[in-house]
Amino acid sequence: MSRLANALERVATKVENLSALDPAADAAQKVTGALPAGRVKDLLSGSDVGHPVHPLLITVPIGAFTSAAVLDLTGDHAAARRLIGLGILSTLPVAATGASDWSDTAGAERRVGLAHAALNTVALGAFATSWVLRRSPGRGKISSLVGLGILGASGWLGGHLSYAMGVGVDTTAFSQTPTDWSDVCDTADLVDGSPKAFTVEGESVLVVNRAGRIHALLNRCTHRGAPLNEGQLVGDCIECPWHASRFRLEDGMIEQGPATRPQPVLQTRVEGTRVQVRRSEPRALRVNAV
Ligand code: FES
Repeated sequence: MSRLANALERVATKVENLSALDPAADAAQKVTGALPAGRVKDLLSGSDVGHPVHPLLITVPIGAFTSAAVLDLTGDHAAARRLIGLGILSTLPVAATGASDWSDTAGAERRVGLAHAALNTVALGAFATSWVLRRSPGRGKISSLVGLGILGASGWLGGHLSYAMGVGVDTTAFSQTPTDWSDVCDTADLVDGSPKAFTVEGESVLVVNRAGRIHALLNRCTHRGAPLNEGQLVGDCIECPWHASRFRLEDGMIEQGPATRPQPVLQTRVEGTRVQVRRSEPRALRVNAV
């Protein structure tokens, strides 16, 4: 690891352990967490597109602010000011989606997310100052450069959240389930309509007997990893106990977010009185990677 990478890692670790951020995070989460599960939350989360939308939207302000810096170099100050204005306006949906994602975090990831948001707010202030100063020709460049620097630092923390802490990543991405039929439990262990968890080759598997049909899904919620067996059945879905995502028992598809990835399902069969499961479809890259 390079010296720079080591230094950045130390900074990230400090932020992760900075419990002084918790009171502010508690207060902010009371606001951002007030949005209930449903259509608006799904839109903000990206449940309809299969990935969080926050990382997609952030490209707009970053592109606008960066392009404005280039136009400052080439002397097109009027266009640079317009781009700064566009960048400022485009932060609204970015902030809304980020706040929604952040409201579902906890502990160290919540602290890093709060620091990320605070830096973004300071950067936004610098760009807003730049936009106002740019009413006078030639002014406001320093302020937007400062904003870009802060945005870079904030972007690094955002990357740390995703790539190092796994926020926004399908928590089952590296799960290993058997490709051969494997014993899970006895049919007598399953009470109709009551979700239960069993361990199969080290992996927690949710098994539900609903109206005489046995369904099996990975038990770790793809969103933030909640144990689905602690949730409840809602119609033909299992509802996650943490943030109320609903996954169809039949195929694991999302009926309600904030999850953005479907829940992996397993094939089931009954041999005698024994319930057996196996992976429904190969996840070749993930298997080979382990
Ligand atoms: S952990 Fe968030 S919806 Fe399941």
